Amino acid sequence: MKSHWKIAVIANIKNKYEPIPEGLPPDAFSDYDSIETIDAIRAALEVDGHTTTFIHADRTLPYALQEYQPDFCFNIAEGLGGDAREAQVPALLEILEIPYTASRVLANAISLDKTLTKRIWRDNGLPVSQFQEFTTGNEELEATFEFPLFVKPSREGTGMGIDAKAIVYSQKELNERIHYLIKTYKQPALVETFLSGREFTVGILGGSEAKVYSKNPTWYDEKGYHCFPILELDTSHSNSPWVYDNEAKSKDVGPPESPGYFCPAQIDSVLEAELKRLAIRAHETINALDVSRTDIRLDKHGEPQLIEINTLPGISPNYSDLCLQANAEGIAYADLVLDILYLAAGRWGLIKEK
Ligand SMILES: Nc1ncnc2c1ncn2[C@@H]1O[C@H](COP(=O)(O)OP(=O)(O)OP(=O)(O)O)[C@@H](O)[C@H]1O
Ligand SMILES: [Mg+2]
Repeated sequence: MKSHWKIAVIANIKNKYEPIPEGLPPDAFSDYDSIETIDAIRAALEVDGHTTTFIHADRTLPYALQEYQPDFCFNIAEGLGGDAREAQVPALLEILEIPYTASRVLANAISLDKTLTKRIWRDNGLPVSQFQEFTTGNEELEATFEFPLFVKPSREGTGMGIDAKAIVYSQKELNERIHYLIKTYKQPALVETFLSGREFTVGILGGSEAKVYSKNPTWYDEKGYHCFPILELDTSHSNSPWVYDNEAKSKDVGPPESPGYFCPAQIDSVLEAELKRLAIRAHETINALDVSRTDIRLDKHGEPQLIEINTLPGISPNYSDLCLQANAEGIAYADLVLDILYLAAGRWGLIKEK
């Protein structure tokens, strides 16, 4: 069995699509990566002697893969439109029988769809705020909702379609926002009870065989999970108070108008344990693999409610939430990237059991 692989890092790159074509929302492609992130991932993989290349996740991908013949793919591609874009590259790699990192097709498709994800969590007894999906915009709001409500596109990331106007206080504001989102983002709008409490994000790494395949087996508990220190986002003084929006997500940590980031969050041990338990259950119930980041917010009673899960969490060094969390406990970027690789390689049978 080879121990040095040819690895293709597969991603969608931001500036390839500038200017934004007509008919697309103003924040289109916000979730795409920068070439600096690709270079950082490649450098991390090369630390262990692997050979790497970058392949763009567009229509040329099947041909580029056939030419490069990778042993493995490190996938961070957001995909190119449709109703499950984050599952497109995994689906292609399954057809070509090339192993790849992190979650597979179904979990990536489900996690992009926030309504579907919440239905699954609710069915599994996990806490989610009341929600209703609007497909045409003409549906009647369920009578049990209480304003204010929060409205967002059902299938976007990186705060796309989310700004201060996401919080609505009246039926009129609600109708306007729903129609705006459906028209602009060409997908259903998700309406939820507004969660007014503290906001956290919980990154996890691992799975049942993590201790076997990781280079850092001591990171993982007996079930195979590692929870990073919890990150709290304080948006109360940011440009769009109480909302971690697209603009805030595009800013570096530090400028006065960006949210406050606290990691590890100053919370009591009971809440900390509960947030970590919820993030692991959120990950398991959608069959996510190896890595994810779950957003959780407290409701007006102080109870944690799951907002959404990211099965392809951003991994831009010193910038993405997951990297800030890893930094907070002294985990080096290369070690994070390499563990994402080796957990996947173990699952796909590329590593001999030690
Ligand atoms: N029901 C809600 N109540 C209060 N705030 C919410 C609610 N849903 C979302 N938010 C706010 O909007 C932000 C973005 O929402 P969400 O995490 O669903 O979107 P996203 O764009 O997929 O995020 P990510 O960048 O993590 O992929 C949250 O971090 C939170 O600040
Ligand atoms: Mg989020």
